[in-house]
Amino acid sequence: MANGPPPDGADGPPEPAPSGIRQFLYYLPYLMRLRWAALVVLISTGLMAALRLPSTFLPKILTEHFDDKAYVFGYLAFVLAALLFGAVVRMATTYVAAWLGERVVFLIRKDAFDRLERLNMLSVFARGPGHFVQQLDRDVYTTRELLENTLTGTIVDIASGLALLIAMFSLKPTLTVAALGIFIVLGVVIRFFNRFVKKYAGQARTMAEGITGALVECIGGFRDIQASGRFPRFAERYQQQVAESARVNVRIRVWGEIAGLLPWLGLSIIVLAVYALGLEKINSLEKLGEIITYTTLLSQFFPAVLAASQWSTSLSMAMPSLIGLRTILDQPDPSAGRTNLEPLVPPIREITFENVGFAIEGQPLVQGLNFSIMGGKFTAIVGQSGAGKTTIFHLLLRLLEPTQGRILINGRALSQVTTDSLRRQMGFIPQRPFIFNTSLLDNLLLAAPESEVKPGQLEACLEFAQLGELIDKRRDEGGLKAIAGYLGNRLSGGEQQRIALGRLFLQSPQIVICDEYTANIDVKTEKLIHEAMRTQFADRTRVVITHQLHTIRGADYIIVLERGRAVDAGTHEELLTRPGTYRDLWSVQQLGN
Ligand SMILES: Nc1ncnc2c1ncn2[C@@H]1O[C@H](COP(=O)(O)OP(=O)(O)O)[C@@H](O)[C@H]1O
Ligand SMILES: [Mg+2]
Repeated sequence: MANGPPPDGADGPPEPAPSGIRQFLYYLPYLMRLRWAALVVLISTGLMAALRLPSTFLPKILTEHFDDKAYVFGYLAFVLAALLFGAVVRMATTYVAAWLGERVVFLIRKDAFDRLERLNMLSVFARGPGHFVQQLDRDVYTTRELLENTLTGTIVDIASGLALLIAMFSLKPTLTVAALGIFIVLGVVIRFFNRFVKKYAGQARTMAEGITGALVECIGGFRDIQASGRFPRFAERYQQQVAESARVNVRIRVWGEIAGLLPWLGLSIIVLAVYALGLEKINSLEKLGEIITYTTLLSQFFPAVLAASQWSTSLSMAMPSLIGLRTILDQPDPSAGRTNLEPLVPPIREITFENVGFAIEGQPLVQGLNFSIMGGKFTAIVGQSGAGKTTIFHLLLRLLEPTQGRILINGRALSQVTTDSLRRQMGFIPQRPFIFNTSLLDNLLLAAPESEVKPGQLEACLEFAQLGELIDKRRDEGGLKAIAGYLGNRLSGGEQQRIALGRLFLQSPQIVICDEYTANIDVKTEKLIHEAMRTQFADRTRVVITHQLHTIRGADYIIVLERGRAVDAGTHEELLTRPGTYRDLWSVQQLGN
């Protein structure tokens, strides 16, 4: 179980050095976990290559045995049988390879998704959905393709190439060594061209991320974009991004093709040279057969050279994805090595802030916070917009880690409490709750799995959160089964807030923290909810953020926040006795009423 985000804004280790083979080897364990299937694919691919061999020797057999018709026909029948058997093996291989590829996708996606939990909230929001779609979708498929192609082609092609090389060497040693020399030079040149492939692949990946991100934002902000009447501007920007990406993708193809052209060129030159050099030596039919066999071997060697060159080009193309995916797969487990973690056990006695500060890139959002939240009491945090109120809640929930000082709960540092027990005891109503595009019921069950909901609790929850009317209205859609819509767009703002309240009720946590939860609710509902909160959570630790001061008159303790600092604290009456932010806010709000 992950235990909260790393201490600062960064996530995990720096990007690993981009060495191609090393990046490739990193992903081999995924194949090793499926070694039986991998072995089947490898062996059957090898078998297919071997079954192609008999046809290679046809010229040699024909020239040597042209007077023995039975022998030749027998050999032809053998070649045919090998081809047919090869076709059957091929179908089986396709099936196992497809299964293997999908399984690799599954395993990598599973690991990547599990590691998401380890990421820092700030960096997740800073990167946005495009980044993660790229990683868990395209990067995973690129990696799968590379691994699968390696198994179903490259390894066997290169291995059979080596076998052919031995045959060629025994036929014509000098020529074969000379040919090898040419291939090595070619390899160096191909590597050079592949650097461009890699560079443009990196650019293309970044652009793909941007394109996905733009689309996701466009759907998320659909209403506001439409209402602004500026949809064409978004369309234009999107088209620019897509066009730019198309240009880069063409460049990748071109450089990849140039790199792939070289082996053809090299091999063709060698074949021509063999004919040119061998011409005067052809003084017998055997000699001719030998030369044809050698050039046939050479042409059989084509796939090996091509496979090696294509593999290195594919690797260059895949490199940005291999590296990009690792930034999430390599996330260290924050709870690893922590031995003194303990679950948080109720009752909650006290939550203490000891000189707590949180800064982003040196900019403090809150600093020097020293106060206590008493267990079983009602504490309010007030302050103007941007004062750092929500940040305090994020610190309490360990969605952010203090960059200064520490928070203690029942005398124990928050970092020494298991995060899941902490979050189980804390019920959070954010300023803008996130509503999932599933049923109202699923939305309500976010913090409390169905198995934990006691009989009658759901009805009580609907009553508590004033959701009865909504369910009635959606009777035709199945009541609680009605779908909330993307980002909760089929619900009003107030209904979304009430869903969040319902979640809180079902979770029934020891610590209730609410961030301006009544902001979107009409006054009547708000009053009812306040009442329910007082009765339902009377014995719990309640922390409420608000700037509507009339809602917190009954608070046991009020903390006044100003520009990231706690400038005052006390009860409503105490705070009114002295000049300061609270009294100012109060008189302004009294005037307004
Ligand atoms: N990820 C972020 N990067 C930089 N500044 C941030 C970030 N999140 C919040 N802030 C800033 O921190 C300040 C406090 O934010 P917040 O705690 O949300 O205030 P509020 O009291 O209104 O809840 C605000 O001025 C906000 O602009
Ligand atoms: Mg806020």
